[in-house]
Amino acid sequence: MRSMTRRLSLRVVTVRVLLPLALAFPAQLQWASEAFAQQPNGNAATRAVRNPVAATAASITAGAATYKKYCAFCHGADAKGHGPLAPKDSNPPDLTDATWTHGSTDGQIFTLIANGAGAKSSMVGFKGKVPDQDLWNIVNYLRSLAPQAARR
Ligand code: HEC
Repeated sequence: MRSMTRRLSLRVVTVRVLLPLALAFPAQLQWASEAFAQQPNGNAATRAVRNPVAATAASITAGAATYKKYCAFCHGADAKGHGPLAPKDSNPPDLTDATWTHGSTDGQIFTLIANGAGAKSSMVGFKGKVPDQDLWNIVNYLRSLAPQAARR
């Protein structure tokens, strides 16, 4: 049931939001179509996106700082979810466990952080608010916390 509702709301988002957006801003089409393709477990296109930022200590440290600024209040200072200031009943997930509802590759995690989890979610997209490089640094930071088994 939940996935049906989600699929339906995705369609509404596509028609009401992404389509007009795509027509108004052709340059954004790539992102619009990636958002359209955003599904549980991700899709082939975003799965294949390579992480262009090496997971150096500097990248991980920078990612931790950006995470603290934009994400910790919802996902928790330790990234284990349920941050103290998260909107009521939004239940931001644990980002250190092996479960990646929206896909587990670097490309899929990046895309989710960039585009958000859909209009009805409090997980908004950070594309345009936070530079891509910093979003990749966050991916590297989250990888450094996640169990080995979750790595791709
Ligand atoms: C206002 C609260 C809020 C903020 C701020 C927020 N998130 Fe989220 N995040 C959520 C919620 C709620 C979900 C669950 C979305 C869903 O699955 O529908 C989520 C989901 C995610 C997921 C998907 C996890 C999975 O299992 O696939 C990732 C990755 C993520 N957030 C990373 C981040 C990062 C990185 C930041 C900061 C740049 C951030 N979030 C900021 C609330 C938030």
